[in-house]
This record gives sequence, structure tokens and C-alpha cells, in this order.
Amino acid sequence: MLDYVTDKQTATETDRHDEARQGEAFAPFTNDPNQYKKHFYIESYGCAMNFSDSEIVASILNGVGYGATRNAEEADLVLLNTCSIREKAEQTVRKRLSDFKRIKKTKKGLLVGVLGCMAERLKSKLLEEEKLVDIVVGPDAYRALPNLVLEAESGQKGVNVLLSRDETYADISPVRLGGNGVSAFVSIMRGCNNMCSFCVVPFTRGRERSRPANSILQECTQLFNEGYREVTLLGQNVDSYYYTADEDNPNNDSVTFAQLLEKVALISPLLRIRFSTSHPKDITDDVLHTIARYDNICNYIHLPVQSGSNRILQLMNRTYTREWYMAKVDRIRELLPGCGISADIITGFCTEEEADHQETLAIMEYAQYDYSYMFFYSERPGTLAQKRYTDDVPLNVKKRRLQEVVDMQNRLSLESNLRDIGKTFKILIEGDSKKSDADWMGRSSEGKVFVFPKAGYALQKGDYVWVKANECTQGTLLGEIVVGS
Ligand code: 5AD
Ligand code: SF4
Repeated sequence: MLDYVTDKQTATETDRHDEARQGEAFAPFTNDPNQYKKHFYIESYGCAMNFSDSEIVASILNGVGYGATRNAEEADLVLLNTCSIREKAEQTVRKRLSDFKRIKKTKKGLLVGVLGCMAERLKSKLLEEEKLVDIVVGPDAYRALPNLVLEAESGQKGVNVLLSRDETYADISPVRLGGNGVSAFVSIMRGCNNMCSFCVVPFTRGRERSRPANSILQECTQLFNEGYREVTLLGQNVDSYYYTADEDNPNNDSVTFAQLLEKVALISPLLRIRFSTSHPKDITDDVLHTIARYDNICNYIHLPVQSGSNRILQLMNRTYTREWYMAKVDRIRELLPGCGISADIITGFCTEEEADHQETLAIMEYAQYDYSYMFFYSERPGTLAQKRYTDDVPLNVKKRRLQEVVDMQNRLSLESNLRDIGKTFKILIEGDSKKSDADWMGRSSEGKVFVFPKAGYALQKGDYVWVKANECTQGTLLGEIVVGS
């Protein structure tokens, strides 16, 4: 998954995206708030999938007369789209709920709803634990939200946490919340059939299902026509995307992930395609060849390793070995020279010893990650690991190992950026640099963040431009335009 925005565990975690858009918990909106009688305010936590779901929720609520507002004080309905992946994420949400309790006391009739993974995990328990919550809606039940709001308006608490085998919200056109108008998330599947022992997602998001290819293509085409120049195809495990003909579409051929990538790439050479997340066991040569064939499919793969130790990988139920993973990295480097690679890494999983940890550091060095999302293990209720193993690595050891992993990644990120100095990259401009509106900020196909002077060229966000890298920090390449677009 991309960009863990609000549940950072430690101040030590690297943030290579220091110049990049982070999905805001407090999203600005593009629709006109005056056209609606009632207003909702939504904050999203956790992964990109949650941010994307909030855009579906916004669309559903617009349909029943609720417009979005940026101002919680002005809202009739406050929604928190929550994450359960680590305990810290849930604590953050609980803290926010207590803020809203205060507002609720002064604002009669204000409704507060909890959406997403925490709603699914805690179900109606959440109503008992957080007395002022009125609505609890799981990730597959957002169509029920209007009715639940009606019920809550009449004083009843509303809960719907039914998981579905086929809900993909395919027909709902998301309302883009915030963002830069250049890059958008597009959900291509929901749920996860893997059973990584540390992970709560299979329990909160249910079984895996793929969204019909045609509706994905329609959404991407519409985004392109609206001026967007980059889509990130989202799923818990995108490589197992597989859409087969169904009763509604008997003549639709089946579509694999590689085929889907190709179809999206053909919309326009000016539309960049990214995707997340890949599972090392599932990413195929077909996908790698497709990336190689199309200049507009980004040369970047997020390939979570989680651990470098075979013993720990087995306990995690990741279903690959370190050797398999390293061979995958070799294959990526062979078919896609210069491809950006990033990972998710967990330190201090059950029974992890110093030798296991050293193997994690070694595999990082081997893979030469450009970036990593790094976490210490947080036991989650109901997961296989919680049932089978003891969370026996002391917190200080988990944190010390995390720090060592972060230090290693900082070094690898800097080395990776240093290797790019003197080279020229095709950059998609995302907007002004955070620090100065005399500079643009954009990204290379490999996902690296570039900052460079506008230098009098008549360019705008969404344009492509060639930029030569002159200097770098571990998070950003500083460059200059060499050819205008
Ligand atoms: N503790 C710590 N990190 C976790 N992740 C998932 N579950 C846990 C957990 N219980 C991390 C994994 C995953 C990413 C989305 O979050 O690295 O890839
Ligand atoms: Fe969780 Fe593993 Fe599925 Fe990712 S692939 S969501 S880590 S179970």
C-alpha cells in the first residue's frame, strides 16, 4: 500500500516524499458546498485504499444531498475513515473521536460516523466503547450509508459491517477529494485472500474481488479527459487481479493484471500508470514485460519484503523465501534496468532474533531499495499471529531494530539519489514546490521527487519536462530543466 499518512509509529521513519503530496487527513474539496443543504466532513487514515474509499463515500453522500465541507464545525455529519493495521493507527482515531465528542456537545444534531477497517473490526462494540458515535459502517457497506444516516437522524444508532463477496463500487464515480489534480487513485480490486499472519486486512476487508475492467478503463479515461496525468491502480494484491466475464457481461473476455495495465496504458501515452501493492509471490514476468513495453507505465515497483529471514517469513506466512525474493529483484533489474523498488519491512515479529534481523538488513542492502515503509510489529487481535505466536520481542528491541532498518534505508536512499546525479529524467510536474513557488515539484517514472526552478518556461502542472539532476538530499533531487515540454 502507498503513503501511510497518519499512523507513523516513530519520528525516525524516513519520509522520502517530503516534497510529495501526502493524502491529507483533512481533505479539501472540489465540489461547490453551496449547492447542498447538508454537509459532511471526512478524515481519512491509513492506506491509499482508504483515501480512495472516502471519494466513493463522498459520491454516495452527494447523491443524497450531502455536500463536502473542509470545516468540521460547519458539518452536520462527521466521518472518520479508519485504519486498524497497527495499534497506533487505532489510537490516533480514538483521540480524534474524543475531539469530536467535544464539538458534539456544543452542536446539537451533529452525527459522528466511523467507517473503514476499525468499524469492521470492532463492529457494534465501537458504539459501546465510544458512546457518542452514531454510525458504524464497514468497507463493503458504504451504499447503506444514506439509510444509516437517516436512521441516526431519527435517533437510532446505525451499524452495517456486512462484508461482501462481490462489492467493488464499480458503478460509483468517485468525487475527487483534495489532491493535486494531476494524480489520482483508482481502486481495481478489494479485499485480500492472503493470510499473512500479522495482518488484520483479510478480516477487515474480506475476500478478494476484482472490479470489472471496463469500469476501470472508463474511470481512467474520464480522469485523463479532466486533465489528470497519472493514475495509481490500487489493490491489496494487484497481481492477483483477474476479471472474468460475468452474467452482466457474458462476452467480456477475462482480463489479467498485465492485460489491465496494457489497456490503461493505451488510453494515452500522456497518462502515467502506477500500481500498488505487488506481492512477491504473484508478480509475473508478463507484468514486467508489459511495464518494459510501455513508456507510460512507471518504472517503479513496491515489493514488500517484510523480513529477510526465511524462518520469520515462514511464520509470517508470506509463502516465499529470501532466495525467491532476491531472484525476483534480479529479474526486475534484468527486465527493467533502473527500475525503482521499494518495500514494507516489519521489525520485531514474534521470535525474531538478532540473526533474523541481520538478514533483514542484508536483504535491504541486496535489493538496494530506493525507499521503504518501515514498522515495528504491532500485534492485532484476531490475526493468525495473535492466535498462534507470542509477541515476545521487547518493545525497546523492536524499536532499536526499526531504527537500524531506518538508518540502513536512509543510506540506501541517499546512495540511490547520488547515482542519479548528472542524469536527465522525464518529470511529470505535480505543482509548486513546498518551499518556493519559484520552483516546480514533480516525479520521475521511478517515483523519485524532483524540485527545480521554473526558470521562465511556460509550463504548468500536468506537463512533462526533462530535468537534469544536479544535487540531492536523501529525499529529493534538485535539478534544472534541460528541454521544455
Ligand atoms: N504490525 C506492523 N506492521 C504491519 N503491517 C501490516 N500489519 C502489521 C502489523 N500487525 C505492515 C506491513 C504491510 C503494511 C501495509 O503494513 O508491512 O505490508
Ligand atoms: Fe495483509 Fe498480506 Fe494481504 Fe498485504 S498481502 S493486505 S500484508 S494479508
